[in-house]
Amino acid sequence: MINIPKGTKDMLPKDSYKWQKIRHAVECIAQKYNLKEISTPGFESTDLFVRSDGNSSDIVTKEMYTFLDKGDRSITLKPEGTAGVVRSYIENGLGNEILPCKLFYITPCYRYEKPQAGRLREHHQFGCEIFGANSLASDIETILIAYDFYKSFGIEPTIHINFLGCDECKDRYRENLKKFVEPYLKDMCDDCHRRYETNPLRMLDCKSEECKAILKDAPAVTDDLCPMCKSKFEDVKKMIQGFGIKYVCDSKLVRGLDYYTDLVFEFIDDDKVLGQNALGAGGRYNKLVESLGGKQTPVIGFGIGIERFLLYLESKGITIPDDSKIQVYVASSTENEHYVIKFVKSLRDKGFCVESDLMDRSLKSQFKYADKIHAQYVITIGDDEINEKKVSIKNMSTGEQEKIWESDLVEYLNKHVQ
Ligand code: HAM
Repeated sequence: MINIPKGTKDMLPKDSYKWQKIRHAVECIAQKYNLKEISTPGFESTDLFVRSDGNSSDIVTKEMYTFLDKGDRSITLKPEGTAGVVRSYIENGLGNEILPCKLFYITPCYRYEKPQAGRLREHHQFGCEIFGANSLASDIETILIAYDFYKSFGIEPTIHINFLGCDECKDRYRENLKKFVEPYLKDMCDDCHRRYETNPLRMLDCKSEECKAILKDAPAVTDDLCPMCKSKFEDVKKMIQGFGIKYVCDSKLVRGLDYYTDLVFEFIDDDKVLGQNALGAGGRYNKLVESLGGKQTPVIGFGIGIERFLLYLESKGITIPDDSKIQVYVASSTENEHYVIKFVKSLRDKGFCVESDLMDRSLKSQFKYADKIHAQYVITIGDDEINEKKVSIKNMSTGEQEKIWESDLVEYLNKHVQ
C-alpha cells in the first residue's frame, strides 16, 4: 500500500461539510466586505518567492518545495498566498482599475516543515489582500475581516500586534538591535549570525532557547518610533480596543516573511491548545508591489490556516453542525426498475435531495439504510402503488405513514420536508 506523503492530510467525506461551511463563511464575509476572489497557480517561478518572501526567512531558506521542471526552469510550489497574488496584480494591471482592489483566496500552500499538530507540509489558507489603501480604515477593515471569520464560528482570539515602523524607524531599530546583540553574538546560533548580517530583525523570531534568552531584554521596536509611526500604532490600538477585540502588544513579533513594513499582527488562542502556533497572521507590506516591478502600492492582508483552525475548533470542543439532509429515500419493491429510476429523477429535477437503492437490497434493508442516512421521508413504490398512481410515504421521525396521489407528492414534500 502506498501511504499519504508525510505532513499532508486527506479531506475525508465525513469532514467535507466542514470545508464547505468554511468556504460558505468566507463567501459571506467576502460579500459583506466586497472582496473579489482571485486564484493563482499552485506553482510559480522560484524567483518570485525569493524576491518577495525574503532570502533571510526560514520559508525561503529552508522550507520551499523547489525543483527544476523539464524545461530547466526553477519552480516552487507556493509556500504562501501573498506573493502569487501580488505577481498577478502587477501582471494583469489590476492596479489600473478602480482602487482599492480588495481580494480574497482559498489556496493550498506547501512548506517543508517538521510535521506536528497544526503544522503540515500542505495546508490551506483563507487569505485577503487589500491593495492601494494606506489608511487607518484599511488597517482596521483587514483586521475586522479576519475577526469576523473567527466570530462566525464562535471564537474571539486575541490579536498580537506590533509596528515595525517606517524606513527611518526600521533603520534606527536595526542599528539599536545590532548594538544590543553584539556582545552576545558568539553565544547565538548560526542562523542568528547570518540574520545579524542580512536581516537583524529576524533574530527576534529565532526559536533557539539560547537566542530567545539573550533577546528577552532586547530593545523593543516600538520604543523608538517616530511621532508619525507612534501615532499610527496608537490609532490602530485605540480602534481595535473600541471594538472590544482583545489585543496584546508584542514587541518581538516580526513575522516569518520579510516583506512586512509597519503594522504586523497574529491571531493567537489564549489557551495555547495549538502550542505557540498562530491561528492566522498578516500585516502591511507597502514595498512589495514596487520591488516586484509594479507601481508603488500600499497593501495589507492576512492568511488564516484552515486545517489549524479546524483542529483548534475540535480541541475546544466547538462542533460545526452538519446540516446537510437527505430529504427523501425512495424504496422500491417492484421489478419495474425503469419506473423507479424515472421517478427518482423527477423528484431530483424538482430540487429535492433524493437517495434510492443502488445495491439491489431487500425492502427491509432499504428501510434500514434510509434510517442510517437519516432520510426524513421514505417513499415506497411497489406494483400496487404504480397501478393506483399513488405512493406510500413515511415520516421517519414520527413513524407516520400514508398513501397519497402521486400527482400531490411535490406539493406534499414542499410542505413537509426541511
Ligand atoms: P504565515 O504566518 O506564514 O503568513 O501563515 C498564515 C497562517 O497560515 C498561519 O497563521 C497559520 O494559521 C497557517 N499556517 C502557516 N504555516 C502552516 C503550516 N505549516 N501548517 C498549517 N498551517 C499553517 C502568510 O502566509 C502570509 N502570506 C499572510 C499574509 C497575507 N500577510 C499578508 N497577507
